[in-house]
Amino acid sequence: MLRTAKHSRNRQPALWGALMFPLLCTPLRALEGAMNSAPVRYVPDLRVWVLGTGRTTYVMGLNERGELQTLYWGGKLTSDHDLSAARSHAEHVSFDSSETMTNLEYPGWGGRYYNEPALKVTLASGVRDLVLKYASQEIRGDTLEIRLKDIQYDLFVKLIYKVFPGEDIICKQAVIENHTPQIVTVEGAQSGVWYVPEGEGYRLTYLTGRWANETQLIREAIHPGKKVLESRRGNTSHNLNPWFAIDAGGEADEEQGRVWFGALGWSGNWKLVVEETPAAHQVRVTGGYNDFDFSWPLQPGESLGTPPYYGGFTSRGFGEASRLLHRFERDQILPDRAHPEVRPVLYNSWEATTFDVDEAGQKVLAEKAAKLGVELFVMDDGWFGKRNDDHAGLGDWYVNPQKFPHGLQPLIRYVNSLGMDFGLWFEPEMVNPDSDLYRQHPDWAMNFPGRPRSEARNQLVLNLAREDVKEYIFGVLDKILSENKIKYIKWDMNRHFGEPGWPEAPLAEQKEIWVKYVRNVYEIIDRLRARHPSLDIEACSGGGGRVDLGILERVNIVWTSDNTEAFDRLGIQEGFSLAYTPKVMSAWVTDVPNLNGRSTPLSYRFLVAMQGALGIGANLNKWSPEDFALAARMISTYKSIRETVQQGDLYRLCSPREGALTANQYISAHGKQAVLFAFLHSQQYVRPLPALCLRGLDANALYRVKRLDEKVVEQQPVLSGSFLMQHGLNLDLRGDYDSTLVILERIE
Ligand code: GLA
Repeated sequence: MLRTAKHSRNRQPALWGALMFPLLCTPLRALEGAMNSAPVRYVPDLRVWVLGTGRTTYVMGLNERGELQTLYWGGKLTSDHDLSAARSHAEHVSFDSSETMTNLEYPGWGGRYYNEPALKVTLASGVRDLVLKYASQEIRGDTLEIRLKDIQYDLFVKLIYKVFPGEDIICKQAVIENHTPQIVTVEGAQSGVWYVPEGEGYRLTYLTGRWANETQLIREAIHPGKKVLESRRGNTSHNLNPWFAIDAGGEADEEQGRVWFGALGWSGNWKLVVEETPAAHQVRVTGGYNDFDFSWPLQPGESLGTPPYYGGFTSRGFGEASRLLHRFERDQILPDRAHPEVRPVLYNSWEATTFDVDEAGQKVLAEKAAKLGVELFVMDDGWFGKRNDDHAGLGDWYVNPQKFPHGLQPLIRYVNSLGMDFGLWFEPEMVNPDSDLYRQHPDWAMNFPGRPRSEARNQLVLNLAREDVKEYIFGVLDKILSENKIKYIKWDMNRHFGEPGWPEAPLAEQKEIWVKYVRNVYEIIDRLRARHPSLDIEACSGGGGRVDLGILERVNIVWTSDNTEAFDRLGIQEGFSLAYTPKVMSAWVTDVPNLNGRSTPLSYRFLVAMQGALGIGANLNKWSPEDFALAARMISTYKSIRETVQQGDLYRLCSPREGALTANQYISAHGKQAVLFAFLHSQQYVRPLPALCLRGLDANALYRVKRLDEKVVEQQPVLSGSFLMQHGLNLDLRGDYDSTLVILERIE
């Protein structure tokens, strides 16, 4: 039977606490008064914790068995009357254990627990049974720590909750602590579990793809069983992204409906298990380290921390879910979170020159880029070692003396004299077998002795889990950054792990390579940033293979995709924007015909790229004077709107998945400027476009309408917010790959 009533949007949020456990919650004592607004609160009478953001509430409680149980996650509860004590699920039959049917906040695998566990261990005695019960708690402002303990052994789990009231986001993290006198082997460690209210008819939205085809949106029904989103490749991967959104029964769209969403901050093997349990219809998403090929022996006194696992809720659709995440990333995650900066307009030479870089050629490009208004000139692959193609050189991070006989200084000085900062490409984690580094240290590549070493793009992965390799890579990068005025590095990773052996480590610890590698990549970046505070970093992995909230704590921007074909980019960028802010979405204008053999007008390519952090990746030596004139105008226009694009609120008006028209609107943080981008894929049957209604404006305000061209039919210089949102703008887009930009300035 479909319990659709549960998903009715007319229900009052106050009912939801009870609805999550319709049979289980026995309201105890009604508490008087409105709900306290502290971000974290313990209500001792009920033994519940209430985590509150601006517009959401998350409630956990201790049930009669002493288990920590999720009670509620959703819109803001306004009164303590809505709270009730936790009660475990009633058990009606021996096959459906109460523990399994109860929403355990952090279930260990043991006893009669059959859902996806959060923690799986083997004790030195051979015991593989873990039953976690409440031990203690500590509240510090917006942070709550709850410690659970096994019913017998001194194995503890510290659950850390951090509340971000302004962004409606809560972070969960777990630390597994071995206080037993013997080794405990952790075989699966998750950061936590997010439960949506029990029921059927939920939908999952997630992002999938491959190289040149990243962040494709999939939306599908959740049914009993499990759907596993994961990476087993050593990095985040293009194939699936550690982000999800769940809405109830097709209720949500861009503008309205309840959406629960979450994301993991981890750039290695990760796993999200989306599960609807067949018996109780619990809908839960367990997330953390991938437990495939995972094993972590904890010595007495040692602990293992898990990645941050963020969750948020909104009743205002997928659009608001994205805006909350974007705001969260800008304000709480990115390295410039304390003092946000706009991203500069960048030029990157890769598509123009590939490996064929030298001082004279780069100077010519730099001069042309500067005339366009570019602010950051980045030299890509090919400048180091014996790097003339992708067969050699990775690992040899010294300047190629044939290409740069006087080192990098003359080029950097020239770039700086043109008023631009200088950036440089690296792929620090890799080695070509044809390199001095590999000849000296063949053991530094991850490998199983006596087994093949499979190459991809003619390269092997350095075992960065090793301390000596980590120190070497840090030292090399630190030296180059200390000796040269380098403002920016593009940190690439062009293959996944293969044969992830670590023969030098004790056998029991060799599988730690998956986690230690990533921790060491993070550590290198953190140390480089500390030693070179003005350094900016771009994360790249053959395009968008390393995009997640873990790397975004450390890098300023990510390379969205190696696919720079503008029409394809509309879809990739839409998916990207579901989870990640346009501020970090590097987007280049490149030459045509591009990947699909498609040619789009230069203005279209610019407008597509201007929806993120604009860059130019074209061969400027081939551009006509008209191209230069158009590009200079576009870059200057971009500079007048980039704060809105990068730091504002994004409204996705028309999706490239749904029709010929794609439209996105951005509103600046203070609401003074709004920007509309619209793209027509191909007109058919002389069909006129429907008027495009804008969103999020002030209905009572007047806006001055600035057109990039004559493609807006309404010719009034000033329009009201109400007109723009109710009547909309008629656009005169025609033919194939037409596009326009409209800038609205609020009249004060
Ligand atoms: C990867 C990146 C590209 C470029 C090349 C250089 O493919 O995604 O942007 O840097 O490497 O080899």
